[in-house]
Amino acid sequence: MNKRFSILELYKKSNDFLTKKGIESSKTDTEWILSKFLDVEKIDIYLDRKYIEEQFLINQIRQAILRRAKREPLQHILGTVEFYNCSIKSDSRALIPRFETELLVELVVKKLPNDFNGRILDLGTGSGAILVALAKEYPYAECVGIDKSANALTLAEENLALNQCSKNVTLSIFDWHSDVFSQKNFDVLVSNPPYLSFKEWMTCEPEVKEYDPKDALVSENDGLLDLETIIKISPEILKEGGLVALEFGYGQSEKLISVSKGFLNEISIANDLNGRRRFFFGRLIS
Ligand SMILES: C[S@@+](CC[C@H](N)C(=O)[O-])C[C@H]1O[C@@H](n2cnc3c(N)ncnc32)[C@H](O)[C@@H]1O
Repeated sequence: MNKRFSILELYKKSNDFLTKKGIESSKTDTEWILSKFLDVEKIDIYLDRKYIEEQFLINQIRQAILRRAKREPLQHILGTVEFYNCSIKSDSRALIPRFETELLVELVVKKLPNDFNGRILDLGTGSGAILVALAKEYPYAECVGIDKSANALTLAEENLALNQCSKNVTLSIFDWHSDVFSQKNFDVLVSNPPYLSFKEWMTCEPEVKEYDPKDALVSENDGLLDLETIIKISPEILKEGGLVALEFGYGQSEKLISVSKGFLNEISIANDLNGRRRFFFGRLIS
């Protein structure tokens, strides 16, 4: 005979298992998994008014908890991430969109008029998170996303469809170290490029090291090569007065400011929610 569980029983068993496996976020991860697979609110778990008898549901939850115990990121298990104004499908083809990158989008939006209808380029679009968020915010803008990873671009394509913004967005494969840029005259160049040094990447949790593509995270020259390259090629991409908006890593701001001297002005640096310098803005000198 199949066993049935109350929802709270299922929660306690799953949470205990993840705790024993050393998952620090076991409580919230279990809540997310149960609410996704049982289609309930988190509060319903604690109200404990539901019994689960369907074996396929119990198996789905068991599989999800086992995956999390092996340090697979919660976002891959749930399949989507809420990012700014959209839902982004997330799997091993591209970096999981990060919380701080939502802040980059927010800061870009603050700098553009509500009815912006110019041209936006997202360098290293990955899952398409930044691109989709901006394309939804500005349905009359022309948005372009590029990445060197063909795998990431297939995921970005699915995210455009999921968020119904394929109409004002195009994607193409491009490597900013070796390919020559043919499209010019953008009003905005936004990018969250790889910016970790190899040493920093080595200290990352297994969720990052084993499941996010390394190429999406690590850059040569102590994490600076891709950021510096993007700043240097910005005059070939932007219109005069066009905006450069970049996310960068700890301790990199002074180097970026110095690289941009002579062709970008109105340079400003913004902090993340922990008060650390993480976002670079500048405009192409007219
Ligand atoms: C940190 S991820 C950002 C992904 C996404 N924009 C986000 O914010 O979640 C950096 C992206 O840049 C891409 N990338 C790395 N080096 C590149 C290069 N030389 N040319 C083009 N894309 C590159 C990676 O494939 C990856 O998708």
